[in-house]
Amino acid sequence: MRGGGLVTGHHLRTHNPEQEATAMAEQQEEKLYVDAAEARRFVEAVLQGNGVPESNAAIVARCLVAADLRGVDTHGVNRIPSYMERIRQGALDPKANPELKQITPVVAHVDGHNGFGFLAAHAGMAAAIESARVYGIGMASVSHSNHYGMAAWVVQQAVDADMMSLVFTNSSPALPVWGGKDKLMGVSPIACGAPGKDAPFILDMAPSVAARGKIYKAKRRGEKIPLDWALDAEGRPTDDPAAALGGVMLPMGGPKGSALSIMMDVFSGVLSGSAYAGHVTGPYDPSKPADVGHFLVAIKPDLFMSLDEFRGRMDYLYQRVVGSDKAAGVERIYFPGELEQIAQREREKTGIPYVKAEVDALNEEARKVSVDSIATK
Ligand SMILES: NC(=O)c1ccc[n+]([C@@H]2O[C@H](COP(=O)([O-])OP(=O)(O)OC[C@H]3O[C@@H](n4cnc5c(N)ncnc54)[C@H](O)[C@@H]3O)[C@@H](O)[C@H]2O)c1
Repeated sequence: MRGGGLVTGHHLRTHNPEQEATAMAEQQEEKLYVDAAEARRFVEAVLQGNGVPESNAAIVARCLVAADLRGVDTHGVNRIPSYMERIRQGALDPKANPELKQITPVVAHVDGHNGFGFLAAHAGMAAAIESARVYGIGMASVSHSNHYGMAAWVVQQAVDADMMSLVFTNSSPALPVWGGKDKLMGVSPIACGAPGKDAPFILDMAPSVAARGKIYKAKRRGEKIPLDWALDAEGRPTDDPAAALGGVMLPMGGPKGSALSIMMDVFSGVLSGSAYAGHVTGPYDPSKPADVGHFLVAIKPDLFMSLDEFRGRMDYLYQRVVGSDKAAGVERIYFPGELEQIAQREREKTGIPYVKAEVDALNEEARKVSVDSIATK
């Protein structure tokens, strides 16, 4: 088994996440490794084969492979079969380009025109960054979009431009509101970030105990899930991912997780003019457009001091956090986003691990559009 460590079992977050992930990785089935550049080539080819223009295919491929590189393989290249099914069923327009309207000097509205969420969010964050460069802050509200996968890639887009950011989206019903029985709100991730000295701060979290993508991944891989992630259709805790998908996700922190998912809907759905209040369609449902909304803000960190001073202050915070006295049994404390940065460094060397069933599903998509299979090593 190669490249153990964080590359699998990303969701095992206890006192020693690296060791737990390694232990879990060792129990899991053998992995096939794919270089990031090859994964990008493959995704671009399949997307173009499905009618996505070249430059747009490159953006989507970069975002999906970024998730796999960071160990967030619930939201990476394995989403291709379900995304392509949505294209085949006419639920997502592969040729759509986002349309941007500058509403005020600091506010843009992006109509995703039912194209990939990656493109609409990318255009929105680019506009927010441009406003922030001049005015200190920029905001983009995005409507008629689709699933944009791992929110951290949008945060990274801002970090790459030396910007802080808030990155919100809504999503399809998965979570009951506090006290409710049926799913109504999405497990919509809340993400934000700031440039640092050596590494940025990147928080990217679903308001559920675990992201629903982790349940899809466990189902794909024939694995069980922890009992506190979801309830089955009868409201019982379950370790069976299929039963969990037929039931509801559990919010983190009870009413607080439920309130955060409502917050994502207010800022992303209500404000943008997109679907909200339980009316977004999920990325695995090819029956109709998703109508997802996003809310993106870029903030210039060097408004009150130089960028160097800001980075220095971030580094002080980082050192204080990771240098904190450790609780019993804890070997190392991580900054938000750090585990994913470690995974990325590792995967850039080893390649990205997939199981055979995942590679087979990807190659099935390649066959459908007559492009080369993904090269594993
Ligand atoms: N687009 C969508 O509709 C959608 C919906 C749900 C989730 N997602 C994505 O799913 C992914 C996974 O979400 P999640 O909530 O399961 O993430 P997670 O629980 O794996 O991580 C959440 C955050 O906590 C930090 N973290 C985790 N363990 C840590 C530790 N031991 N020490 C310090 N920090 C730690 C991580 O760096 C991350 O910022 C995210 O990328 C999210 O954007 C997307």
